[in-house]
Amino acid sequence: MQFQNNIVKDKILIVDFGSQVTKLIARRVRELGVYSEIITPNALIKFKEYTSVKGLILSGGPSTVTAKKFQSVPKEIFQKKIPILGICYGLQLIAKIFGGKIKPSKKRREFGRAFLFKRKKSIIIKNFLETKKSVWMSHEDAVVKLPRNFKVIASTKNSKLTIIENTKNKIYGVQFHPEVTHTENGKQIFRNFLFSICKIKRVWSVSSQKKILIKQIKNLVKKDKVICALSGGVDSSVTALLINKAIKKNLICIMVDTGLMRKNEFKYTYQLFKKKYNLNVKLINASKLFFKTLKNVSNPEKKRKIIGNLFIKVFEKESKKHKNIKFLGQGTLYPDIIESKSSTGSKTSKIKSHHNVGGLPKKMNLKLVEPLKDFFKDEVRILGKSLGLVETINFKHPFPGPGLAIRIIGNITQERVKILQEADHIFINELIKKNLYNKIWQAYAALLPIKTVGVMGDTRTYEHICLLRAVTSEDGMSADYFSFPKTFLDSISNKIINNVKGINRVVYDITSKPPSTIELE
Ligand code: XMP
Repeated sequence: MQFQNNIVKDKILIVDFGSQVTKLIARRVRELGVYSEIITPNALIKFKEYTSVKGLILSGGPSTVTAKKFQSVPKEIFQKKIPILGICYGLQLIAKIFGGKIKPSKKRREFGRAFLFKRKKSIIIKNFLETKKSVWMSHEDAVVKLPRNFKVIASTKNSKLTIIENTKNKIYGVQFHPEVTHTENGKQIFRNFLFSICKIKRVWSVSSQKKILIKQIKNLVKKDKVICALSGGVDSSVTALLINKAIKKNLICIMVDTGLMRKNEFKYTYQLFKKKYNLNVKLINASKLFFKTLKNVSNPEKKRKIIGNLFIKVFEKESKKHKNIKFLGQGTLYPDIIESKSSTGSKTSKIKSHHNVGGLPKKMNLKLVEPLKDFFKDEVRILGKSLGLVETINFKHPFPGPGLAIRIIGNITQERVKILQEADHIFINELIKKNLYNKIWQAYAALLPIKTVGVMGDTRTYEHICLLRAVTSEDGMSADYFSFPKTFLDSISNKIINNVKGINRVVYDITSKPPSTIELE
């Protein structure tokens, strides 16, 4: 049994045709105070609860309606009098269904910036397009013949039918992507669609959901007990605080000390949740076991597997000591749910086997409590703030489940972990001091245990390399390296070498993702 949110009555349904940016559509709608959910075309076929759906958005995607077989929507949705907005592939699909013509064309394709010209007044472009506007495009196919009963609202040089409408049936289509920030004031398109066309009310806000979530946890769990793995990251922390508000001491939080956390992090988190938030936290020191099992293991995938399995073993052993546990609390987020229901059903090739403390075994036979499963990370942070979660945790950079083990290339020893913890601590503290921490999505130090020659004082040294990584990103799927001022790089290199014994060279990683990944292993 799953935790059921059903948090709001009125919503916007977004049909995901596999665009990389469908999640952004959901976020833009929510930012405007309207609850939105993403649904796959397959799930839409079986979907029945249309009474709460005030509008439908059809996303972009990699398919083409010019192929013999293509992803579509049940025709009945156009008879339900629900306003519809098609974006990119969504527009082409609407055009195809209503008798328009779509052609793939090298001449008409547009990638990146394009300029939109107004052809006709329309509610969908109110306060968005006066005469000319820069928008972001990503399409090869284009609509070349207007579908029946549609009018053209705007064009670009290459594609004449860029915005189209059928006001009678409240169907709209845009070829560009209003959901990405590269489209100037793209949010206005959603504002117009939601409030002027769908006439939906602005009632959704994350903090208004807090009370509802707590009540739902109470109703679900009743007098039973919930166990939860607490890592000190924002997701597990907010989950624990929410469940604790609902059921108090019937929540048992387990913290497994793997010895692979950042400097002082484990002690700090434990004290905070135990003393400040008064949670029922059990601490298990398993660092010896982790170091012993990881001895001489240098293969990244092996490290990940060993840590994942050990974690589960330790957690299971501890949970057996507590009687009458019926539920497992997990910090699953909405993107995790969306990603596990890919619209195309394709499984992208495995780059790394991710492990996090939420991934606990099914065989434990516990029911799940996943109060964050309808929220994006930034929304979880809003919840965290309203629950009084300290900023050091609420705005903490993401940290991988296997911890520092995947930031030490090669074998993991206690000595190497100690060296890395010191360097990382200096790096992160400097970022905070220089007000850079919150501008960066994720930053860390890694240890490259290849030795190079240096000179300190008059003495030759032969020590390890410390690699610094700092990236900007929206969701970790792609990332760019952060451009530090030279003065920062100069001083951080100095500070690390002067203070950390065992490091005599500091390098800064200037690769983006792709082609690299954020972590090294
Ligand atoms: P990569 O290295 O794949 O990382 O570009 C993308 C994001 O995921 C984090 N990461 C993990 N998170 N368990 C986690 O919970 C893991 O095993 C894991 N591996 C990577 C990484 O820190 C980055 O934020």
